[in-house]
Amino acid sequence: MNTFLERYNEYRTVIDSRLSSVIDRDEPVTMYEPARYVLSGGGKRIRPVLTMLACQAAGGDPMDAVEAGVAVEILHNFTLVHDDIMDRADTRRGRETVHRKWDENIAILVGDELMGIAYKTLLNTEKGDVRAITRIFTDGVIEVCEGQSYDKEFENLHSVTEEQYLMMISKKTGWLVAISAEIGAIIGGATTAQRAALVEYARCVGRAFQVQDDFLDVVADEDTLGKPIGGDILEGKKTWLLVNALERAEGEDLALLQRVAGRSAARDGLVAAVTRVYERLGVLDSAREKIAQDTAAAAAALHALEDNEGRSMLGWLAQMLLERKH
Ligand code: IPE
Ligand code: IPE
Ligand code: MG
Ligand code: MG
Ligand code: MG
Repeated sequence: MNTFLERYNEYRTVIDSRLSSVIDRDEPVTMYEPARYVLSGGGKRIRPVLTMLACQAAGGDPMDAVEAGVAVEILHNFTLVHDDIMDRADTRRGRETVHRKWDENIAILVGDELMGIAYKTLLNTEKGDVRAITRIFTDGVIEVCEGQSYDKEFENLHSVTEEQYLMMISKKTGWLVAISAEIGAIIGGATTAQRAALVEYARCVGRAFQVQDDFLDVVADEDTLGKPIGGDILEGKKTWLLVNALERAEGEDLALLQRVAGRSAARDGLVAAVTRVYERLGVLDSAREKIAQDTAAAAAALHALEDNEGRSMLGWLAQMLLERKH
């Protein structure tokens, strides 16, 4: 196994182990059972690992960033629980979503609870300006909610521009990735220049990450992905693929995509039909290029940092994400 992967798995184990102890109560059972279910459900743990690596890249001890990393991961998990209600998704991480396994009220409440636990965990941070960190974290919560709001608003628009799409994903996904790095940087004692480089890296990674999430929604293997294929098409999501395909399509292809965008297409066989249109228009290849470009931009941002293990790991992480299948 390569050493980068070993190190990533080590950091992930630290995060998972801390996540397994953040909930220290059992009652009410209808709250804590699903909350534990969410936090123990696996997941790539990219955001907390990023917090640890940014801290390390800035010259700090990655272990100092564990509580903050775990806080960001809990916040992320809260957004997923509510996202699955909003996106009417039945599975995540290969298991039933909370609102399906229990019900919507429980899922709403578990999300709220997780947000509280996230703040509680964040406040265990001992290095860095905790007030500044908490402010950044709070702005993150607000930005993600705004991003999710745009995502839902866009479902009801017949078309959105690529610029609008990029604004929306920078909020719903990019922001949390960016604050993961920024908070780690602060804990690691980063200079202003180091912090800016780490945030720029994370913004690029976050952008690539969401375009790839859109891409995987169409092309991934469902079992590997752990969530349903084609959900974005059925929900009329304005993904990178749909936004770009609408620009390129003509005739019948355009008519079909317009029905997808307007959520008036017949659902039977729709995912396969739209996938064929995407292939024909070359948007899947373009998405790959776009992801590669943003990954390269992320790597370039790292040049402003001194060479150390944290920086090398960040370079590897961006590349690993480029090749991800889930
Ligand atoms: C999924 O995030 C939601 C997006 C922001 C695209 P991840 O792909 O990081 O989900 P997990 O945590 O690994 O399951
Ligand atoms: C997720 O976007 C963004 C947040 C959860 C904030 P998606 O809706 O595309 O994520 P998945 O595909 O369900 O994981
Ligand atoms: Mg969503
Ligand atoms: Mg979703
Ligand atoms: Mg998605």
